[in-house]
Amino acid sequence: MRILIDSANIEQIKQIYEYYPISGVTTNPTLLSQMGVDNPYDILGPIRDFICEEDELHVQVISRRAEEMVKEAEHIVDILGVNTYIKIPAVPEGFKAMQILLNESEIPFTATAIYTPMQAFMAAKCGASYVAPYINRIDNMGYNGLTVAKQIQNIINNNDMEAGILAASFKNSQQVLELCEYGIDSATIAPNILMDVIMNAAVNDAVETFIKDFESFAGESKTMLDFKEEA
Ligand code: G3P
Repeated sequence: MRILIDSANIEQIKQIYEYYPISGVTTNPTLLSQMGVDNPYDILGPIRDFICEEDELHVQVISRRAEEMVKEAEHIVDILGVNTYIKIPAVPEGFKAMQILLNESEIPFTATAIYTPMQAFMAAKCGASYVAPYINRIDNMGYNGLTVAKQIQNIINNNDMEAGILAASFKNSQQVLELCEYGIDSATIAPNILMDVIMNAAVNDAVETFIKDFESFAGESKTMLDFKEEA
C-alpha cells in the first residue's frame, strides 16, 4: 500500500517526507482554507516543487458543472504540471466531467467524496485512476468505512477494472493497517495520524533501554562509532 499525506501544510509535509517513504500529497478545499492565503497556488506551487516529480499531487476542482470542472482541471495541470491528479467529486456532473477528461485529455483524475460502493463502481467505469472512499466519514454515517473500502476492492477486482483505491479520511492508524492487510492500493493520511502509525510508548521504551544498556558499559553518549576492533 502506497502512503500519501493528506495535508496542505508544507512544513508538515516536509517533516513527514524526512522520515517516511511517501508517494505524494493530497489536498482538498478545506485543507487549503486552513492555510490563511488568498491564492491556492501559493500553497500548491511550493508543495509541487518540494515533492519529486514522480510523486503525485492531488488537487480538487471546485466547479459544480462538468464543463467548468474540465476547464479547471486543464488550468490546474497547466500550472502544476505532470503527476497532478485532479480530484473530481463522484456526483453526476463529476461523472460527466470524468468522461470528458478520459476521452479528450491525458489528465489523470481521482474520484473523491466516495461514500458508497456504487459511486466507486461508476467512477471506475468513467476511467478514474483512483477512487477515494472516506473511511471515517462513512463510519460517522453509521456504516463501516473499512467494509465499504473492501467491498470496492472486490468490485474492482471482480470486474477487471483498472482504478486503484486511494482510501482517505482516517481517524486512527488501526484503520490504515487493516486496509494495508487487505492490499488496498493507496491511503492518504493526515500528518497527526501518520506520525502515530509507528510510534508508541512501548517501542520508545525498548529503544531507550538499549541505549542506556550500551552507555552503562561504554560510557555516556558513546556509540559504536567510538570504538574499533582491537588487534
Ligand atoms: O481529502 C479528503 C479526505 O481525506 C477528508 O478527510 O479527515 O476531512 O474526513 P477528513
